[in-house]
Amino acid sequence: MQVIIKKNYEELVKEAVTHIKSLIKAKPDAVLCLPTGSTPTGVYKKLIEIYNKKEIDFSGIRTFNLDEYVGIPAAHPSSFRYYMFETFFNHVNIKKENIHFPPSEIGGENIEEQCREYEDLIKGAGGLDMAILGIGRNGHIGFNEPTSSLQSRTRVKTLTGETLRDNDIEFEGDRLPDLAVTMGIATIMAARSVLLLASGENKAAAVKNTIEGPISAFCPATMLQLHPRVKIIIDEEAADYLSRKSYYKKVYERTLYVEQLFTKK
Ligand code: PGA
Repeated sequence: MQVIIKKNYEELVKEAVTHIKSLIKAKPDAVLCLPTGSTPTGVYKKLIEIYNKKEIDFSGIRTFNLDEYVGIPAAHPSSFRYYMFETFFNHVNIKKENIHFPPSEIGGENIEEQCREYEDLIKGAGGLDMAILGIGRNGHIGFNEPTSSLQSRTRVKTLTGETLRDNDIEFEGDRLPDLAVTMGIATIMAARSVLLLASGENKAAAVKNTIEGPISAFCPATMLQLHPRVKIIIDEEAADYLSRKSYYKKVYERTLYVEQLFTKK
């Protein structure tokens, strides 16, 4: 895993956007797994900015969102579908038919069947080229909460108290949807590349466990240690507890140097 430590959130956003932009340049019909939350908001903002400058084209891009609350209407301001359209989709030239969300409506078909169909849709699109992720304070990726199976696929998960508090959503008065449908860890691991973003001191413990801890279902993000193409992009505050911070910085600097050595002039 490559650990990229940036000075602050703004620099973290720039770094993430550079990688997304170069993927889309190389593969204009790339398949992306997209997250919601406060961490990626700046990334979406920057992507819109460069789209407006005609530096990036989303017309061929296909997207699959990571997760969604069970039973929340798409038009509800706390739904992830609402977030995605408000924050990103409504502002760029992505085609509506290329946008996908995990099944989350109550009633109708069997949910397990619908989750399998979501997996089939991802496979049918050729698999995920890049999974862009945030991380919870408890080490969750998507809504794969601690003790999630490390081989899981898209399914319903019960949210922990800390996730409910952190997400602080309002739904039908005071009732929080404590169930969500999320891509599984194996779904994420099947992506050809992963970008994990974390900002702020409140993520430092989860980041430390993810990078330096033993692989454990108790911190699901640790599974990323087994992925061959992961970039963990964090700011200084999120990197606070890492024991080998200066080494990671050196590795990144040397990686850039090697890339330069082998780039045709
Ligand atoms: P955040 O959420 O970006 O809002 O901190 C990340 C997550 O819970 O995965």
